[in-house]
Amino acid sequence: MKIIPCGIEHFEELVDFVVRLNGHDSHHIGFFGEGEADARSSLAECIIPPAEGFQLAYDGERLVGVFGVDADPEISRAWLYGPLVEHADWQTVADELYAASERAIPDGINEQDLFCDVRNLNLAAFAERHGFPVRSENAVVSLERANYKKPSPHETLFSIVDYSPDFFEQFERCHTTLFPTTYFTARQIVEKLNATHRLFLGREDGIMKGYHFCKAEIDARSGYIDFIGVDESMRGRGLGAILLAAGIDWMLSFPEVDKISLTVNADNVPALKLYNNFGFVTERVMRGYRKKGIDVQSHPSLPLPPRP
Ligand SMILES: CC(C)(COP(=O)(O)OP(=O)(O)OC[C@H]1O[C@@H](n2cnc3c(N)ncnc32)[C@H](O)[C@@H]1OP(=O)(O)O)[C@@H](O)C(=O)NCCC(=O)NCCS
Repeated sequence: MKIIPCGIEHFEELVDFVVRLNGHDSHHIGFFGEGEADARSSLAECIIPPAEGFQLAYDGERLVGVFGVDADPEISRAWLYGPLVEHADWQTVADELYAASERAIPDGINEQDLFCDVRNLNLAAFAERHGFPVRSENAVVSLERANYKKPSPHETLFSIVDYSPDFFEQFERCHTTLFPTTYFTARQIVEKLNATHRLFLGREDGIMKGYHFCKAEIDARSGYIDFIGVDESMRGRGLGAILLAAGIDWMLSFPEVDKISLTVNADNVPALKLYNNFGFVTERVMRGYRKKGIDVQSHPSLPLPPRP
């Protein structure tokens, strides 16, 4: 078995392998999304370029496994993309790839996440052996354009506006209260806003009470809802539905967008009910694992070289 860094020269081989394996429920890794366009856009969004963050395993000339890491020092978290392995000795190939991939994780990262379909039993065994506790179960839900049913809005005094910098403090407070440990900070969200990434704010009497951050991924022919949230004291008054409708209407205004999806905790009943009202259906159930305290606890025998 030979493990080598992906490098630019193996990138297309990596993509082909990921797309082929990730389509099977028993291999599926959530961070790659569904299909080739999703895989390419996930790889393009990695902070650590895949050429540096991904490792490939070869048995002779045959590519049998890939594993990658991405990491954000600002939130001290790494995301493990894989392992995706096609070999009779799945666990050994996965372990060798993990050992090689860990070297790409920058110093100061204290959490590592794995994210897979619940039917990926090899990954469940890998997570258990490497001390990754289950963090959450998430439903991946999606809406096909043809199935969009927009519920009639309640009588409401809410208004929906686009984000403007005057609202940054209110937005940041709301986002960190609702999603204290999530993958994008409020600052990172507002820095992403452009023609295909939009942040809707729901206001009452000029005060922000909720928001919806979503994006249209034209190449992937899909839309994605990253965050929707309503101030706790305002729930059940229809603001979530109005914010969701505003984002869906905007994403579907791109003729290329055929489908909208999102990931939600499998036990988040209010959110699932809200999405079901609009015609979303559950596509997969995913399991997230998170190992904490990596810098101080694990792999004492494996020195992590400083990143260049
Ligand atoms: C999910 C969330 C945005 C809904 O916002 P909201 O303003 O309360 O939603 P609405 O008042 O528009 O309700 C819309 C529908 O959701 C359902 N719903 C809302 N609250 C509910 C609850 N507590 N239990 C069950 N269903 C509920 C209802 O079916 C409602 O439709 P109806 O009015 O026709 O009955 C809100 O609960 C929230 O911010 N939760 C915390 C953040 C979060 O979990 N976001 C989703 C992450 S993917």
